[in-house]
Amino acid sequence: MVSKPDMSTRRILTFPAIRHCEAVSTATLLDSLLLLASNIFEYKSKPLFTNYRNAQQSLRLVGVLSIFFEEIRENRSDFSDSSVLSFSELHFILQKLRFLLEDFTCDGARLWTLMKCEFVASLFRVLIRAIATALDVLPLRSIEVSLEARESVQLVMKQARELQFEVDPADRLVSNDVISILSQFGDGIVPDSSDLRRVLNQLGIKSWSECNREIKLLESEMGFEYLSEEKRDLGLLSSLIGLMSYCRVVLFEFIDTLPNQQPNDSSSEVIRHLNTDDFRCPISLELMTDPVTVQTGHTYDRSSILKWFKAGNPTCPKTGERLKSTDLVPNLALKQLISQYCCENGIPVAEKSRKKRNIVRTVVAGSVAAEEAMKMLSDFLVNRLENGTGEEREKASFEIRILTKASIFNRSCLAESGAIPRLLNLLPSTNPLAQENALAGLLNLSKHSKSKTIIVENGGVELILGVLKEGLRMEARQHAAGTLFYLASVEEYRVLIGEIPGAIQALMDLIRNGSDRCKKNALVAIFGLLMYSDNHWRVLSAGLVPLLVNLLTSLESEELIVDSLAVLATIAEKQDGTMAILRAKTLPVVVEILNSTTSRAGKDYCVSLLLALCLNGEGDVVPVLVKNPSLMAPLYALLTKGTSRSSKKASLLIRLLHEFHERSSSNLMSPAFPRERFVHVW
Ligand SMILES: *[C@@H]1O[C@H](CO)[C@@H](O)[C@H](O)[C@H]1NC(C)=O
Ligand SMILES: *[C@@H]1O[C@H](CO)[C@@H](O)[C@H](O)[C@H]1NC(C)=O
Ligand SMILES: *[C@@H]1O[C@H](CO)[C@@H](O)[C@H](O)[C@H]1NC(C)=O
Ligand SMILES: *[C@@H]1O[C@H](CO)[C@@H](O)[C@H](O)[C@H]1NC(C)=O
Ligand SMILES: *[C@@H]1O[C@H](CO)[C@@H](O)[C@H](O)[C@H]1NC(C)=O
Ligand SMILES: *[C@@H]1O[C@H](CO)[C@@H](O)[C@H](O)[C@H]1NC(C)=O
Repeated sequence: MVSKPDMSTRRILTFPAIRHCEAVSTATLLDSLLLLASNIFEYKSKPLFTNYRNAQQSLRLVGVLSIFFEEIRENRSDFSDSSVLSFSELHFILQKLRFLLEDFTCDGARLWTLMKCEFVASLFRVLIRAIATALDVLPLRSIEVSLEARESVQLVMKQARELQFEVDPADRLVSNDVISILSQFGDGIVPDSSDLRRVLNQLGIKSWSECNREIKLLESEMGFEYLSEEKRDLGLLSSLIGLMSYCRVVLFEFIDTLPNQQPNDSSSEVIRHLNTDDFRCPISLELMTDPVTVQTGHTYDRSSILKWFKAGNPTCPKTGERLKSTDLVPNLALKQLISQYCCENGIPVAEKSRKKRNIVRTVVAGSVAAEEAMKMLSDFLVNRLENGTGEEREKASFEIRILTKASIFNRSCLAESGAIPRLLNLLPSTNPLAQENALAGLLNLSKHSKSKTIIVENGGVELILGVLKEGLRMEARQHAAGTLFYLASVEEYRVLIGEIPGAIQALMDLIRNGSDRCKKNALVAIFGLLMYSDNHWRVLSAGLVPLLVNLLTSLESEELIVDSLAVLATIAEKQDGTMAILRAKTLPVVVEILNSTTSRAGKDYCVSLLLALCLNGEGDVVPVLVKNPSLMAPLYALLTKGTSRSSKKASLLIRLLHEFHERSSSNLMSPAFPRERFVHVW
C-alpha cells in the first residue's frame, strides 16, 4: 500500500502520482500510517546538511502523531467516516513528506537542495499545514484515547498551523556565498580556494567522490530540466555544475572512487558505429527521435506507438500482450545514445519539438559562469599536465577523460587550452593508467573536428599507433583503435594512416588477439579506412578477408559478427575484394548467418554481401547459391520484415536466383549477369 519511492525515475523535489487509499480496512490504513510515520522517523538519524530546522520540526510533529496512532490502533474501536477520511488524508500527506525527506537526504543532493531552500521550506509548510487541515476533520471527542494522546494531537494541530517554516539562516548564508562565487566565475575572476572550501565544508562535502556525486545529481536534474516546459533552472544548473566540477578538479588531489566508479570501469567506450538495430523503432524501422517504453518494457518511437494505439490496438506490438495502461515512459537513456550516435556520425537528428536543444550537444555552456569555470579548470589541468608530478598528471588525465565524455563545449575548451599536445606527451608513459586516461581523453577529444587536426599536426598518429601496438593495458589499445576510427572520418587522415607501414597490420593484430572491445574498435577503424580506395588493396594484401571469415565462424558476439559482415560487404563491392572473399570459402558461412542471426543489421549486411558477390562474382556465385536450401526462406522473410533497404536487396537477389534457375532449366544458361540492370541499388 505504501509505494516505494523509485529514485531512478523521479525528479527530486517533485512528487510522483500518489493515490489516496481507498477500499482498505481501517486497521490496515492505520498500520500503513504507522509504518509511514516510522519510515519518516528514521530520517532523524540521517545527517541533514540543508533545511535542518524545518525537517526537525516536521519530524517532531510526526513523532507525536505516531504515538497517537499507536494508541488508537491498540484500542480497536470503530471509527466514524470522518475519522477514516482524516486518516486517509494523513496517509496521503505523510507519503509526500517521506518523499521530500528522502530527496534532500539523497546522495549528491546537498548543493541543489541548498539552492532550492526557499522551495523546500515552502513544501514543508504546505505539507505540515495540510496535516493541520486533515486533523481538523478528525472527531477527536468520539475517539477513545487517553487524555494525554488527545492533548498531544491538539498540540500538533496548533503547531502545524502556526509554525513558520522559513529558510534556515545558515542555509541563506551559504547559498549567498555560492551566488557570489558564481558571479566571480561569471566575471572571469578565479575564486579563492578558501571560499570554495568553506562552502563545501558547510555542505559536508569532503572528498572527490562526494563532490562528483553532487555533479552527477545536478546533471541528472539537468536532464529532467531539458524535458520540462519552462526550463527555468537550466542556467543555474549549468553554473552549479561548473562550480562543482571546478572544485572537484582543483580542490581534491586524491580520487577516492567507490568500487563501482573506478576509472577501470568507465573504460567501456566501444564505438557504436555499425549496429544500430536498437536505435530503430520496431514499428517504423526508422531511427527513433522520441523513444518511449510501454508497460511490457519494449521501446517504440512515440509517434509510431501513438498511431498504433489510435488505430485501436491497445497491445504491445512486439509481444502482442494487452496493455493495462497505455502510459508511455520516455526512454531517456536510449534517446541520449541515439542523439550521441547521430551527432558522432553526422546524422541530422530530426528534432520534432522545436525547442528541445540539448546544451550538452551545443558549442556553448549553459551559462557564462559555467563557461568561465570550464575555461579556468581547463587551464588548471593543462598546467598540471605540463608542470605536475607524475601523480598530478595521472589525475589530470583522468579528469580530462571524464570532462570530455559528451560535451562539445568542454572538448573545445580543453583543445583550446592546449590539452592535446600534453596528452600526446603522456602516451609513451610507463604509467599504465596515465597512458590509458590520456588516450581515452584523446579519443573523446578527437570527436571534435578541430582536435583531429591538432592531434595529427602534433605527430599524434604515430604516437597513437605506438599504443595500438604496445599499449600497457588492453583498454588503452582499444581507445587507440577508437581514436583512429575518428581520425579516419577525415579523408586526408584516412590516406595518411593507410600509408603508414604496419598501421593496418596493427589493427588486424588487435582483431586477432584483442579483447572483444578492441576487436570492435579495430573493425570500425578499418571500416573507416576502407572509404579510401588505396586502403582497399592494402587490407586485401594484409590478409584481412581470411581473418574476418575466421571470425565469423568463431565469434560468439553478435555485434562483432555484424561488424565483420559490414566490412566484408564493403570489400565485396570491388572485384578483387569479391575474389578474395570467394577464395576464403565464405558463401556457406554467410548463408548460415543469414538464416540464423536475429539481428536486423546482420541480415541486412548478409544480403548486401551476397548481392555484391553475385554481381561481381560472375558465374561463380549464383549456381552455388541456387543449390543452397536454407537461403530462400530467410530471403523471403526479409521481403516483408526487413528494412526497406534490405527488402529491396532481397528482392533483387531472389530475382537473380530465379532468372538463373529458369535459364538453366531451359538450358539457355549464360554465365554472366547483366549487372547494369542492378547497379542502381548501390
Ligand atoms: C583496475 O585496474 C587496476 C590496474 O590494472 C587493477 O589492479 C584493478 O584490479 C582494477 N580494478 C577493477 C575494479 O577492475
Ligand atoms: C609551467 O610552468 C612554467 C614555469 O612556471 C610556466 O611558465 C608555464 O606557463 C607552465 N605551463 C602551463 C601550461 O601552464
Ligand atoms: C567517451 O565519451 C563517451 C560518451 O560520449 C563515454 O561513454 C566514453 O566512456 C568516453 N570514452 C572513454 C574512453 O572514456
Ligand atoms: C563539461 O564540463 C563540466 C564542467 O565545466 C562538467 O561538469 C560536465 O560534466 C562536462 N560535461 C560532459 C558532458 O562531460
Ligand atoms: C597474436 O597472435 C598471433 C598468432 O596467434 C601471435 O603470433 C602473436 O604473438 C600474438 N600477439 C600478441 C601481442 O599477443
Ligand atoms: C535455419 O534456421 C532455422 C531456425 O532458425 C533452423 O531450424 C534451420 O535448421 C536452419 N536451416 C539451416 C539449413 O541451417
